[in-house]
Amino acid sequence: MTVPFIGKQLKNRTVLASGILGNSKDILERVHEQGCGLVTMKSIGPEPRDGHKNPTVIDLGCGMINAVGLPSPGYQDMEEEWAELESRNFPVNASIYGGSVEEFQRVAKFVSAKGPDFIEINISCPNSEKHGMLFGVNRQSAHDVVSAVKKVIDVPLIAKLTPQAIDIGDIAKACQDAGADAICAINTVGPGMVIDIEAQMPILAFQKGGLSGPMIKPVAVRCVFDIYKAVTIPIIGLGGISTGEDAIEMIMAGASLVGIGSAVRYRGINVFEKVAREMDEWLLSHNTSFKEIHGAAHQQN
Ligand SMILES: Cc1cc2nc3c(=O)[nH]c(=O)nc-3n(C[C@H](O)[C@H](O)[C@H](O)COP(=O)(O)O)c2cc1C
Repeated sequence: MTVPFIGKQLKNRTVLASGILGNSKDILERVHEQGCGLVTMKSIGPEPRDGHKNPTVIDLGCGMINAVGLPSPGYQDMEEEWAELESRNFPVNASIYGGSVEEFQRVAKFVSAKGPDFIEINISCPNSEKHGMLFGVNRQSAHDVVSAVKKVIDVPLIAKLTPQAIDIGDIAKACQDAGADAICAINTVGPGMVIDIEAQMPILAFQKGGLSGPMIKPVAVRCVFDIYKAVTIPIIGLGGISTGEDAIEMIMAGASLVGIGSAVRYRGINVFEKVAREMDEWLLSHNTSFKEIHGAAHQQN
């Protein structure tokens, strides 16, 4: 049975998180074949960017810390990838970022014309117009960028939020009011830092980085819970999901779909098929359904 999501049918509720496996058709197709319902591309920006120096990703056991620095060829330098993706037979969510409302709009317009199924705006990046503050921590900035992008695209818009917002429900509501069709939450938590005590220096070349994987799941569940209370549009719950039980928890907080990023490293590229199967098994063993458990954790409120 397929899952409806803003006008499209997905094969299950799992989503590949942005930035985990790049943008080539071959790899995205493989992820889809390995059971992923919706694949998200790595965030595409206005200019080519090299990203930060190595080391950029460290496995901490309880999750990862990364400072890859949004390396991107720039939206105009991806002709080969776009041409290949045109003949795909799976749904694609194209993630974009910018440093100003105008940059977001420019990238969004170009990317929309390439025919993705959805556009996800990564508003967890610094807003140069507002002195480097993140777009996603201020309701006005979030509203401005969503409404500007919405005007120039003809596919559904997903706003990806940062847990750094003081009131993430309020930011989600601002995005919904501006025309967002769905919310994706969360991006990485932090920034954090790890120090090599023998070398007496931070391990990441960029010093600070975002946390992901199992250690951030409680933050992600809380964020999705707060967003579900504030909006009526669907939520992609993301952050620390590795198993079917993690996914069930996220659905009880209010998610309609569940994103998976770091767990690709922990459980392999077929983690999507595993999580989807484990979710089905859990629902069957508890004699219940998605509909019955969706947002169930809100019953007491
Ligand atoms: C190495 C790495 C690169 C990432 N790159 C992006 C990116 O380009 N755009 C984005 O929106 N999120 C990016 N993220 C964040 C993930 O999409 C996801 O929100 C986060 O890792 C939490 O999910 P997880 O705990 O399942 O990994 C990246 C995460 C990692 C670990």
